[in-house]
Amino acid sequence: MLHFRDGLRDMPSYDLTERDWKIKVNANESPFNLPPLVEERVMARLSGVAFHRYPTEEGEALREAIGRNCGLNRENVWLGNGSSEIIEKLFYAFGGAGHTIVYPEPSFSMYKIYLRAAGAEGVSVELFEDYRLDVKSFIRKVNDSRAALAVLCNPNNPTGGYLSLSEVEEIAQGVSCAFLIDEAYIEFAGPSASQLLSRYPHLMVARTFSKAYGLAACRVGYLLAAKEVVDMVQKAYMPYHLNVLSTVTADIVFQMRQEYEPRLHMVMAERQRMFDRLSEIEGLTVFPSATNFLLLRTEKAASLEAALAASGIGVRSFGGAARLKNCLRVSLGTREENDTVWQAIQAFMTRGE
Ligand SMILES: Cc1ncc(COP(=O)(O)O)c(C=O)c1O
Repeated sequence: MLHFRDGLRDMPSYDLTERDWKIKVNANESPFNLPPLVEERVMARLSGVAFHRYPTEEGEALREAIGRNCGLNRENVWLGNGSSEIIEKLFYAFGGAGHTIVYPEPSFSMYKIYLRAAGAEGVSVELFEDYRLDVKSFIRKVNDSRAALAVLCNPNNPTGGYLSLSEVEEIAQGVSCAFLIDEAYIEFAGPSASQLLSRYPHLMVARTFSKAYGLAACRVGYLLAAKEVVDMVQKAYMPYHLNVLSTVTADIVFQMRQEYEPRLHMVMAERQRMFDRLSEIEGLTVFPSATNFLLLRTEKAASLEAALAASGIGVRSFGGAARLKNCLRVSLGTREENDTVWQAIQAFMTRGE
């Protein structure tokens, strides 16, 4: 008989059905691989890697560069295996028995998993009917529950909504516990809360190379926070936790981030184009988005998902997740992919099945 840790058997898993999609718009990935100039530099750099050594200096150079770019020091930056690992370790660092973590609902499904893994109590704050956040009630819930950690996803996955910098600041002023902003999609939205860090030492920002910089395969994310937070969170990591291949690749991507500007603009233009076209389809509600995806709601969500899958288009559905009934999330692909997705959705919705 194997005696696993209490609660592990009941722990929900991240569920995503994968197959070899013709058009893969189910995971908010970039439709583009490395820009050619970046690829050239990455390949040259990889050939110089000391494969026989544990990685040391590589991550330090990237921390320094990210810090400098945000007006911070290397000590305020910590790298992780995706922002997933950063968030998971922060939940661990501030969680534990008797500690409460407050999060919005609906939001990134992994928060509930991380908080259970951290042995913390979860308190959710329901978004309004249109998925906007009630800032005042969020602050109240954080304070009333004497939370150890408050987490917000901005812009929010999977609803796409965006909180302005002043709203984020209002929350930072209203709560005194650790306050994490998960900015996985911030490059598609607006200014990062990182510029508030010098005024609010309890604020922490998690960012990633996976989305706007199309580096999901490498799994690199980072934390921006007060030195005290970075020093404590480091203790939750194993030695040499980041592999050198991912680290040097992310370093070059960061150095060459201007190469990604045209892509970001393209995604944002496609977002508007798809929003306008999908909004015209009867029986379909499209939610405004500040990300690289759109959330759709229709009574026919299950059969629409099946029809899209039958044409080789993979979108994300949420099963019975709270407040996401009849919703599908569709990431933005290339212009051609978006056209095909739109045509398939339109054809299905007008067939009246
Ligand atoms: C809101 C949000 N946060 C964090 C992540 C984790 O991203 P990664 O671990 O690739 O950095 C994702 C990935 O989909 C996400 O949607």
